[in-house]
Amino acid sequence: MWEDIKQLKKERNAIILSHLYQRPEIQEIADLVADSLELARRAAQTDADVIVLCGVHFMAESAAILCPDKIVLLPEEDAGCPMADMVTPEALRAKKAEMPNAVVVTYVNSSAEVKAESDICCTSANAVKVIQSIPEDKEILFVPDKNLGQFAAKQANREMVMWEGHCRTHDLVTPEELLEAKKKYPEAKVMVHPECRPEVTALADHVSSTSGMLRYARESQAKQFIVGTESGILHQLCKQNPDKEFHILHKKLICPNMKATTLKKVKEALENMRPQITVPAHIRERALKSLERMLEVK
Ligand code: 13P
Ligand code: SF4
Repeated sequence: MWEDIKQLKKERNAIILSHLYQRPEIQEIADLVADSLELARRAAQTDADVIVLCGVHFMAESAAILCPDKIVLLPEEDAGCPMADMVTPEALRAKKAEMPNAVVVTYVNSSAEVKAESDICCTSANAVKVIQSIPEDKEILFVPDKNLGQFAAKQANREMVMWEGHCRTHDLVTPEELLEAKKKYPEAKVMVHPECRPEVTALADHVSSTSGMLRYARESQAKQFIVGTESGILHQLCKQNPDKEFHILHKKLICPNMKATTLKKVKEALENMRPQITVPAHIRERALKSLERMLEVK
């Protein structure tokens, strides 16, 4: 399987991009394993003709928006993001009509059509900076993750109106479970993703995107960590820090959509050159503006 994929990759001049929540074997075969922000940046820069996006639908759509002349393959077509489905373009248009002067900041975990209705995108790695880039006298509507929105609003010291969306995987974790894990591993540092509830992030030693967690674990003097994000990240955490111990905060921290991609599906995608993800030009042009504004924020 491994050799077949490598051969096909060469024949197609393809690059394999993997999110940090993917299965270990997918991360191992990928050219880049990264968070949502880095995947978007790399997709925008690649010389490859084909991008195999091992992640969920909105990530492949972002690659298709940023690289209209490339073929973008999503090995498992049904790998969606339930949070992204919590906002439709119609509902967002209705909310915008109620708040005509608001700047719409949209988490990349959203459809291309929703991005097209937005002013600027953000990821969990740059949400605070994106909010800080908006003039202080402007009202902000944050879409769709209310947990990330609340966390970023607090960090940026900014009031925002939140959409009622959440990640079904991260939002399940309770503060009681975090305290339970701390009791079990009293020496451990607790790091959690901002998609967790505010009552959970409030108890953590470190709150950041997946790439931020990798950095924190590498740079910390601590030897033990409790990890409050999707369990796929354990692969890189353990690989990069063989002398440190990582414990998942709760066994339910699994995103079924992220686990739907297998090596077999990657091979079939490269063989058949499908499923291809495309975005209609009239949506792409507007969604691109929101993504480009985000990528310009330093
Ligand atoms: P990041 O990799 O940007 O932290 O994303 C988390 C996530 O849930 C992606 O679906
Ligand atoms: Fe969506 Fe949550 Fe899965 Fe990320 S972890 S893809 S936000 S459902």
